[in-house]
Amino acid sequence: MEIQELKVRFVEVFGDTEGELEVFHAPGRVNLIGEHTDYNGGYVFPCALSFGTYAVAKKRSDSMIRFASTNFDLQVSVTLEDITYVQEHDWTNYPKGVIAMFQEKGCELRGFDVLFDGNIPNGAGLSSSASIELVTAVLINELYGCNMEMIDLVKLSQRAENVFAGVNCGIMDQFAVGMGKKDQAMFLNCNTLEYQYTPVVLKDAKLVIANTNKRRGLLDSKYNERRAECENAVQVLQQKLNITALGDLDVDTFEQHKYLIESEVIQKRAAHVVYENQRVKEAVFKLSQGDILGFGKLMDESHISLRDLYEVTGKELDALVEAAWAVEGTIGARMTGAGFGGCTVSIVKEEAVEHFIHQVGEQYKNKTGLTAEFYIAEVGDGAKRV
Ligand code: GLA
Repeated sequence: MEIQELKVRFVEVFGDTEGELEVFHAPGRVNLIGEHTDYNGGYVFPCALSFGTYAVAKKRSDSMIRFASTNFDLQVSVTLEDITYVQEHDWTNYPKGVIAMFQEKGCELRGFDVLFDGNIPNGAGLSSSASIELVTAVLINELYGCNMEMIDLVKLSQRAENVFAGVNCGIMDQFAVGMGKKDQAMFLNCNTLEYQYTPVVLKDAKLVIANTNKRRGLLDSKYNERRAECENAVQVLQQKLNITALGDLDVDTFEQHKYLIESEVIQKRAAHVVYENQRVKEAVFKLSQGDILGFGKLMDESHISLRDLYEVTGKELDALVEAAWAVEGTIGARMTGAGFGGCTVSIVKEEAVEHFIHQVGEQYKNKTGLTAEFYIAEVGDGAKRV
C-alpha cells in the first residue's frame, strides 16, 4: 500500500485523533550464505530486502496501545501496565515483546496507536517477525526519545523473539533487518558482532528468491534440536580444545579432533558448521573480487551441506534448488534461512531470469504439487523512519 493510503487507513481504523502521524519501515532479509552459523558464533552474509513492514503510528497521552494491521483482521488493545504474551493476540505478540524489552531497559513510554502493513510473505523465512520487531523498535525509540543505537535495537529485538515469543533464534535476522544498507550485504561475525558491508554487485545477474510455499510445521522443534546437537559437539570437543562455540574452529583443527565426537550425526552437524563458516569467508572475498561464478559455486556447496550434513532442507527446498541448478544461466542456488520450507535464493543471469521462473516453477509443481512464487530481490535499507 502507498504511504498516503496507509495514512487514510489509519484514520479509518483509529479515528481522526489529535497529533502527528509518523511512518516507519523495516525490511525483510535474505541470507546469501552462512546458514545455521549465527548461533554457533560463526559468520553470516545476509542483506536486507527492499520490501518489508510499514508502521504508521501516533502517540497517545495515556498508556493504551492499539494494534491493527492491513494484513489481518485482528485488532488488539493493551495498556503498558499489562504487556504479557497472550496466545489469542497472535502477531501482536511480536510488537508487544519489543515493548516489554523497552520496559525492561527502563525507558519511559506512553501509549500509541499503530497500523502495520506487511509485504513479506508470511512464514516464508524472509524474517517477517524480525521486520515487525525492528519497525516497532525504531518507532518506539523515535516516538519516545529513548536514544538507543540501532545495534541496541537489534539486540533488544532478538531478546524479544527469544524470551517473549519463545523462539530461540540467533542474531542474524534482527541484525540484517536493522543494519541493512541499500545494495550492500553484511559480513557479520556473530560472536563479536563486528561487521563489514560488501557491495552486492552481480554484474549481469539478479538475485531471485523462490518461495516453496510449504507450511513449516516442525520448524521450531527441529531448529532447537540442531542447536542442542551443536552444543553437544562443543562439549565433547572441549575435552581437548579450548573453544566456546563451533565458530571458534578452523577446518584443520576440526579435522584433527573430530574423532572425539562419537555420534556420526553430531559429527555431521559440526562439520557443516565448520565448513560453512569457512565458505562464508571465501564467498565474501570472491564477491569483493567480482568473482560471481566462484560465489555461486559456494552457494551450491552450502546447499549440499545443509541437505546432507545438517539435514534441514526437505524435499521441497531440494526440488526447487535442483530445478534451479538445471537451468542454464543459474550461477548458484541454495536454501536460505532456517530450512524445512521457506525460500531459496539463486543468482541468475539477467537474460535467463524469465526462463528460470517458468522452468523452475513447472518442475517444482511436477515434483511436489505445490506452486512456487518468485521475487526478484532488490537489496534495500535497514529499519528507519520514512
Ligand atoms: C533462522 C534464525 C536465524 C538463523 C537462521 C539459520 O532464520 O532466525 O537466527 O539461525 O535460521 O541460519
